Amino acid sequence: MTTEVTPFERMGGEPFFHDLVAAFYEGVAEDSVLRPLYPEEDLGPAERRLRMFLMQYWGGPKLYQEERGHPRLRLRHAPFRVDDEARRRWLLHMRAAYDRINVEYRLDKVTEAELWDYLERAAQFMMNTE
Ligand code: HEM
Repeated sequence: MTTEVTPFERMGGEPFFHDLVAAFYEGVAEDSVLRPLYPEEDLGPAERRLRMFLMQYWGGPKLYQEERGHPRLRLRHAPFRVDDEARRRWLLHMRAAYDRINVEYRLDKVTEAELWDYLERAAQFMMNTE
């Protein structure tokens, strides 16, 4: 019998996504362009939604779907001005967060490339303003 290992497991499971998204939102909280885009004063709920989404996307528990339904992420970003500057900063904070936590998780190069290829494409896809 072969057991399939999901990217979610290869990346380090829930702790990896927890630490990644927590570190990411620390950056967002200090960002003068991104922070005003977030409608809620408390970034905690937004942090939780991104964490659930990413875990589900990579083969982890489907908590996002249970709570939020179909992702339809482009539609959900439509109310916010996502231009190239926002995309660049989003990726910058994600990269800083990743580099910080990867000291502990040490993803293999293939998994790392897989993650970044996705994040860069997804951030591009989310843009809705020239
Ligand atoms: C390109 C720059 C991006 C900006 C400026 C941006 C900004 C935002 C903002 C302002 C929200 C609303 C906060 C909330 O209430 O949850 C949001 C939600 C969210 N974003 Fe982004 N985002 C970006 C890229 C991405 C990418 C690349 C992903 C996925 C890989 C993503 C996944 C999500 C998810 C899952 C939610 C919560 C959706 C929901 O269930 O309501 N975002 N984003």
